[in-house]
Amino acid sequence: MVHESFATTTRGLRQDTLPYRLFQKAKKLGGWDPNDIDFSQDIVDWNSLTEVQRAGTLRLLAQFQAGEEAVTLDLLPLIMAIAKEGRLEEEMFLTTFLFEEAKHTEFFRLLLNALGVTEDLTQYHSPTYRKIFYEILPESMNRLLTDQSPEAIADASVVYNMFVEGVLAETGYWSFYEGLHKTGKMPGLMKGIGYLKRDESRHIGYGTFLLQRLICEHPPLFERMVNRLQQLAPLSLALNQEGAQGNEGSPFGVPAEAVIQFSMTQIHARIDVLKRALGKSIDEIYRIPEAVVGVE
Ligand SMILES: [Fe+2]
Ligand SMILES: [Fe+2]
Repeated sequence: MVHESFATTTRGLRQDTLPYRLFQKAKKLGGWDPNDIDFSQDIVDWNSLTEVQRAGTLRLLAQFQAGEEAVTLDLLPLIMAIAKEGRLEEEMFLTTFLFEEAKHTEFFRLLLNALGVTEDLTQYHSPTYRKIFYEILPESMNRLLTDQSPEAIADASVVYNMFVEGVLAETGYWSFYEGLHKTGKMPGLMKGIGYLKRDESRHIGYGTFLLQRLICEHPPLFERMVNRLQQLAPLSLALNQEGAQGNEGSPFGVPAEAVIQFSMTQIHARIDVLKRALGKSIDEIYRIPEAVVGVE
């Protein structure tokens, strides 16, 4: 492949587009450093948690830790597909996306190190967790190495941005806020979760834009995306049920049904936001305000 022209020496940067605005936001808000977070109170609090609370928190941490590593390892094929299409503003944003996932991975490991957790956490990866993070996510993303069709990009983004980030991670943050956060304990962990959640709102916002752009360019893809999300929904249900079945039960008094309910609401919210692309012009899609796609 050779270059026939360059965006910045022909049309210039499209500063009014969502990807460019997300890039600006990421430079301002995504620069936090996990090394600056003070975990000293977390170390004290960790030892004051009940056995059940510690186990429940460790399960969530073990899932986030590997989940952040997985999204760091698996994003590149999507960036390559976007770059190959010459979508410069999207690729510029994606450089911050990958950087942030690397920092999220670092954040959880620094916390675990501070807490003195040295055990192998694989035991917390339940069968459904493995199905999603060991198989479905890497397979969907790596397919883009050989197949960069709109269908393959749509499938990858539905799994990565809508399901893993938009449903599973969002449900995880919710669990932290509903549970641990209400005890007032582990302020370093909660501070990091706050940063992560804000970064993730840009990632999900970009994924929403990407899928809406694909729907606008190829309207039949909408149905394909909805079908894929509906196929994935039972996995979210199973993942949360497996979590509830652990010995830890409901460590912070958050009922398992409420967690499952929240994750199902997220699935429907993702479908609703994609539906809004139907009938829109490509120009309208590029100009979507950040707030409309949930960017904090
Ligand atoms: Fe992340
Ligand atoms: Fe993310």
